[in-house]
Amino acid sequence: MKILLACEESQAVCKEFRKLGHEAYSCDILECSGGHPEWHLQEDLTEILKEKWDMIIAFPPCTYLTVTGNRWFNIEKYGDKARQRHKDRDEAIKFFMMIANAECEKIAIENPVGIMSTSWRRPNQVIQPYQFGHTARKATCLWLSGLPELVPTEVVEPKIITLKNGKTFSEDYMKGVKRSKAGEASNSRSKTYIGIAKAMASQWG
Ligand SMILES: C[S@@+](CC[C@H](N)C(=O)[O-])C[C@H]1O[C@@H](n2cnc3c(N)ncnc32)[C@H](O)[C@@H]1O
Repeated sequence: MKILLACEESQAVCKEFRKLGHEAYSCDILECSGGHPEWHLQEDLTEILKEKWDMIIAFPPCTYLTVTGNRWFNIEKYGDKARQRHKDRDEAIKFFMMIANAECEKIAIENPVGIMSTSWRRPNQVIQPYQFGHTARKATCLWLSGLPELVPTEVVEPKIITLKNGKTFSEDYMKGVKRSKAGEASNSRSKTYIGIAKAMASQWG
């Protein structure tokens, strides 16, 4: 199958589909970090989506779509900054829906819990890395069309850290926070878990 991994610079899922013999390509405005530039389309997704694809799996930016940043949208409190954030959110919704409405029979869109559930529709499935062999906890929504829900491949106990104030976080998440405080790129936290990448390729390929 000719498969597009949209908004994927890590090539995590692309490489898993390639291993199974598919003609898979990652697309991102960033250079790829997965070591296979020959499979990477470094350009705006808008044009690439117009080509004929048998399957599209997309990981669109979630900065303005997640519920975690909701307080920054308060115009009374944050004025012009909040107004700009509303504009950015509208753009992010448009981008997400451009993928959802692409002419392709099989589409999966991945994003954290966020406003698309109300702005468009509820996701078909919410998966966790700990269902696919990782000890991390990170609710990840999948909006599917023409594809079945992913079946967990290896359920493990998530490693959870409880802070003094009683809040709980995945150990993996805390490591990510430390990495970004140390100045590492934020996209190091948005890379697809290898267990999920393998499940997508083996179950949808
Ligand atoms: C949430 S990250 C997804 C990362 C992905 N899970 C991975 O493993 O590489 C969103 C990605 O969308 C890319 N992106 C943003 N706008 C884009 C556009 N117009 N066309 C292509 N990629 C875009 C960003 O550069 C970023 O790498």
